[in-house]
Amino acid sequence: MFRTLIATLLALTLAVPVAAQNSESGETSTGLSGQSGQLESILERQRALAEGGEQFNAGPGREDFDLNAVETGNISDVYREVRGGTEGAVRSSSRGPAAETMIQTGGMSWLQWREGPVSTYGGILLLGTLALLAVFYLIKGRIRISAGRSGVTILRFTSIERFTHWLLAGSFILLGITGLVQLFGRTLVIPLIGHEAFAPIAIAGKFIHNNVSWAFMLALILTFVIWIVHNIPSRVDWQWIKAGGGFIGGHHPPAKKFNAGQKLIFWSVILLGGSISLSGLSLLFPFEFAMFEKTFGWLAAVGIPVPTELAPQEEMQYAQIWHVIVSFVLMAIIVAHIYIGSVGMEGAYEAMGDGEVDLNWAREHHSLWVEEVEAEGRAAPPQATPAE
Ligand code: HEM
Repeated sequence: MFRTLIATLLALTLAVPVAAQNSESGETSTGLSGQSGQLESILERQRALAEGGEQFNAGPGREDFDLNAVETGNISDVYREVRGGTEGAVRSSSRGPAAETMIQTGGMSWLQWREGPVSTYGGILLLGTLALLAVFYLIKGRIRISAGRSGVTILRFTSIERFTHWLLAGSFILLGITGLVQLFGRTLVIPLIGHEAFAPIAIAGKFIHNNVSWAFMLALILTFVIWIVHNIPSRVDWQWIKAGGGFIGGHHPPAKKFNAGQKLIFWSVILLGGSISLSGLSLLFPFEFAMFEKTFGWLAAVGIPVPTELAPQEEMQYAQIWHVIVSFVLMAIIVAHIYIGSVGMEGAYEAMGDGEVDLNWAREHHSLWVEEVEAEGRAAPPQATPAE
C-alpha cells in the first residue's frame, strides 16, 4: 500500500513538470490525448504495483532505477540529479530538446532578472526618455522654420518610402505595446484589472505580437534596401555632429537627404531591429536556433569569459532577456524620433504625411539634398498654396 502511494506520488511529480515544460515550449504533444496517454500509463503502473507482480519501471534508460531507494531515502540522490539539471537523470515520456532536463534551477534567476532589473531599468529608461523630452519641449518649445514657410513645397518621400515607413512604424508600435503588456502583465496589469479581464488581453496581445512581427521584419528589410544608399556615413556628418545638429553655433549645419542624427536612427533601427528580430525568431520557434551558444563560443574564443555550453532552456532564457533589453533601447530611441518627427519640429511630419515639405524647411535642414534635387530638376514647381 505504502509502496503504491509512493509510486503514485513519484509518477505524478515526474509527469507534471514535464507537461508544464512542454506547454511552455509550445510542443504539441501535450494536447488532451497526450495527457490522457500519460495518465493511462501512470494508472497502469499503479495497477501493476498494486497487484504486486510487476517491477516499477522509471522509464527507458533507467532500468536500474530502484524503487526501494524511495523507501531507504536514496531517492534524494536522484532528486539531486534532477534539481541539478543533469540531462537524462530521469527519462520522461515527452520528446523534444528540453525534455532531458526536468528541473533547470537557472530558470529562477532568469525569472528574477525578467521581473526585476530588466523590467525596472527598462521602464525607467522609457519613462525617463519621455520625461526628458517633455522637459526639452517645455524649455525649448517647437523647433520652428527660422525663415518661415515659403509656400513652395518639394517632394521629400515617394509613396513607396512612406508606405515602408508606416509599415515599419505601425508594426513597431503594435509590437512595443503588446510586448510591454506581456512583460508587465503579471506585475502591473493583473493587480490593476484582475486575471479575468487580463486573460483575453494577453491572448490577443500574444497573437498580435507573434504575427505582426512578420510585417516588422518585412518593413525592416524594405527600409534597409530603399534607404541604405542615403545612410552611408560621410564627412558632412562630422560637420553636423560638431555643430550639435544646429544647437551649437546657432546655425543649421549642411546635410544631404539624411543628417547624422537621422543616420544614427536608421542604423539603430536596422541593427537593433535586426537583433530583436533574430532573438524574436528564436522565441517564435523554441529550441530551433542555438544563437547564444554560437555567439558565446565566438566571445570565448577571444578570451571573454562566457559559458560555452548552454542547456536548451538557457538558450531560450538568454534570447528572451536579450529581446527585451534591446527592445527597450530601441523603444527609447524611437520615442525621441517620434517626438522630433511630430510635435518637436515644425514642418517635419509632412515629409511622412503627404510626402511634400516646405522648401524653406528643406533648405534649413537638408541644404545639400535640396541642391541635388534642384540640380537634377526634380524639385516640384512652386505651388499656389500661400505660406501659413
Ligand atoms: C507615429 C510615429 C512616427 C512618426 C510621426 C514618424 C515621423 C517620421 C518623419 C517625419 C520622418 C522623416 C524625417 C525627415 O523628413 O527627414 C521619419 C523618418 C524615419 N522614421 Fe519615423 N516616425 C514614426 C515612427 C517610426 C518608427 C516606429 C520607426 C522605426 C521603428 C521609424 C523609423 C524611421 C526611420 C528609420 C526614418 C528615416 C531616418 C530618420 O528620418 O530619422 N519611425 N519618421
